[in-house]
Amino acid sequence: MAGKPEKDPVTGVETTGHEWDGIKELNTPLPSWWVYTFYATIAFSVVWFILFPAIPYGPGATTGLTGSTARESVEASIAEAQSARAAINQQIVDANLDDIQSDPDLLNYALTGGRIVFADNCAPCHGVGGSGQLNYPILADDAWLWGGTLDAIQQTVVYGVRNQEYELDARFSLMPNYGSDGLLTGEEIAAVTNYVLTLSDAEPEDPALVESGGVIFAEQCSACHGEDGKGMSDLGAPNLTDAIWLYGGSYEEIERQLWQPRHGVMPGWIDRLDPAAIKMVSLYVHSLGGGQ
Ligand code: HEC
Ligand code: HEC
Repeated sequence: MAGKPEKDPVTGVETTGHEWDGIKELNTPLPSWWVYTFYATIAFSVVWFILFPAIPYGPGATTGLTGSTARESVEASIAEAQSARAAINQQIVDANLDDIQSDPDLLNYALTGGRIVFADNCAPCHGVGGSGQLNYPILADDAWLWGGTLDAIQQTVVYGVRNQEYELDARFSLMPNYGSDGLLTGEEIAAVTNYVLTLSDAEPEDPALVESGGVIFAEQCSACHGEDGKGMSDLGAPNLTDAIWLYGGSYEEIERQLWQPRHGVMPGWIDRLDPAAIKMVSLYVHSLGGGQ
């Protein structure tokens, strides 16, 4: 590469000295607009380094003359959003559930907020949009364990069901352990299981046992599930006639509930969500389709 650069005879431009199979590379200069833009970006970065946090060292970074940080501006916009919402959140806290429901603007705000609260806190158990899953009740239907009015729903959300935390305030009832505590024999459990199947018009496994099962049901089960099997929301006892099953409606699953009831637990939210969020999520659950 030493010596004078060679010139391309056709264009008169110097070559770089690189050659492939007789094709030589021209040393074409960069366009001046490109070069100046490049210098301008270098100058800009120097100014930026001086004004803003830029060079990392130790636990932090140079602060720059302005000392501004992205964290501060995020905090500022969060504070701004919160104060914008404070007024309407306060309205939600002050109003009772029925008043919110009859005020279209408040209700709209509450349902939007409630949907977000639900997705963050409730959907892992109750499914997206309250669609439910095995062991966790559907909240989007018209079947309620503990009642589907606005107040009943809010009561369930505030203290939960059968939890240790709010023991006295939580909704509470225990289906007896008929099998594991020896309250009924295996044959009696088989009989009443066959009877329960017929309540929702399912085929019993052994039709001969249905009648004696009905007698056991009237003695042992009707106090909570009702004489007609339609359940009682004061006791959280499910309707056994609607073919909506918390724990499954097969012979084996019903029999299992009789041997060893699940005693499902729902956490309480009074210390986890603020009062506005609890109201909003209760209104949202009520709006899912089955509100009473
Ligand atoms: C850890 C799982 C879990 C989470 C999280 C949870 N739940 Fe529940 N929830 C349950 C269970 C289990 C039941 C049924 C309890 C029973 O057997 O009575 C229930 C019952 C309910 C009921 C009563 C349904 C009925 O038919 O009467 C409502 C309403 C409810 N949950 C709302 C919510 C809301 C709103 C949230 C979020 C703020 C939430 N749940 C979060 C597990 C959960
Ligand atoms: C003290 C009240 C009480 C009595 C008595 C009672 N149950 Fe229950 N039962 C409940 C409650 C509460 C649940 C809800 C579930 C739980 O265990 O979490 C339930 C749930 C069930 C389920 C599951 C329903 C589902 O959707 O999956 C079946 C089936 C059932 N009971 C049948 C019976 C039969 C049969 C008897 C009588 C031998 C009986 N129960 C007696 C309160 C009672």
